[in-house]
Amino acid sequence: MGFILPAISIVGIQFGDEGKGKITDFFAEKADLVVRYQGGNNAGHTVVAHGKTFKFHLLPSGGVWGKKCLIGAGVVLDPRVLAKEIEEIEKFKKLDLMIDPRTHIIMPYHNLQDNANEAILGGGKIGTTGRGIGPCYADKALRKGIRFEDLIDEKILAEKLKQVFPIKKKMLELAYGVQVSTTEEDIFKEYSELGKKLKKYLGDCSILTSNSLNEKKTVLFESAQGTHLDNDFGTYPYVTSSHPIAGGIFTGIGLGLTKINKVIGIGKAYTTRVGSGPFPTELTDALGDKIRQQGNEFGTTTGRPRRVGWLDLPLLRTSHRFNGLTEIALMKLDVLSGITPIKICIEYELNGTRILEFPANLNEIEQCKPVYKEFSGFSISGKEKTFKELPKEAQEYVQFIESELKIPIKTVSIGAGREETIQR
Ligand code: IMP
Repeated sequence: MGFILPAISIVGIQFGDEGKGKITDFFAEKADLVVRYQGGNNAGHTVVAHGKTFKFHLLPSGGVWGKKCLIGAGVVLDPRVLAKEIEEIEKFKKLDLMIDPRTHIIMPYHNLQDNANEAILGGGKIGTTGRGIGPCYADKALRKGIRFEDLIDEKILAEKLKQVFPIKKKMLELAYGVQVSTTEEDIFKEYSELGKKLKKYLGDCSILTSNSLNEKKTVLFESAQGTHLDNDFGTYPYVTSSHPIAGGIFTGIGLGLTKINKVIGIGKAYTTRVGSGPFPTELTDALGDKIRQQGNEFGTTTGRPRRVGWLDLPLLRTSHRFNGLTEIALMKLDVLSGITPIKICIEYELNGTRILEFPANLNEIEQCKPVYKEFSGFSISGKEKTFKELPKEAQEYVQFIESELKIPIKTVSIGAGREETIQR
């Protein structure tokens, strides 16, 4: 990947699940710090290390390699999940972790509220992961949240629970009709224990990140979810509750705007989406099923089949505007093997006009008709080591995307393994 600059942002440029884990893992080897700045255990990535397959939801992927891992203030942390992930890793490698005192904690009532919200929405549901992400971020904005600094202080935890729990219980039971069987005492007992276990990881992630960058160390910022699931700039309300775009780093860690010098956009050679929401290039036919099977497009976190569609350039142009990409890693090109023709959406037709970017307005997105360009199919074995070794048609497919977006595609991934990665 050429010369490594000290601050690298790895960002998903579609609807999540672009394969960020593989690229982060690839870079993590050379990084000093691997930092998560948003989201929670709604994310999922698979890392093969020490002869074992790890499925992480919360820990930055550098953890398996013994790198310093940071969970920044912008993350929402489920301590039950974190304790399990730590236990898993530490069977193989000592974990070097820091958690910011400002990080908000997902409490059991957040999970109940997430699922109750979805049940009420019925057919109009968002399709959340059910991990309590939205309600936890909502409580943070309402200033009713419990932060990591509170979790590790028994006295404050008891006080905060006393304030928040009775209201949550009433709301869940009376407004949502959900029976809450757990008590304030049960939660205090379990969570103060978790706090004791995790206390040793407390540290100011803003200070450490900032100092490390000043010392010219390499810091990798690993986003979860994707650009078009961003709470402000995604397809609202079919979005997550945090800010996966590169800008989320600054508020999620507490860092100055001038600090990031490399923004790598991770995108698949086609498009996928989990949960509800607009998807202009979606394939709902047998071809969609074929790509889903070939690409094993089933969620790491929930196991749900992912919706599948053609590559969408208006979506990616818009991602570039939101993130300021300096390069792209194109993932899963091999999955398109044996499919001909392959289509790329080059622009949309909206009310008789051709447009190049993704509209902000949900109604307009739903009316957009993709305009496609067709490409000849190809077959990739996964053994190709250089770009030139790829079939001519595959090279043309990549070069077309690059010329349309005017962003260099420096990495092409042609399989799940580390060695199945082509650098240009
Ligand atoms: P939440 O983040 O659980 O609230 O879910 C909100 C939306 O984001 C739903 O459509 C989810 O399917 C989607 N989502 C959340 N996390 C991920 C992810 O890691 N990959 C893909 N989609 C996600």
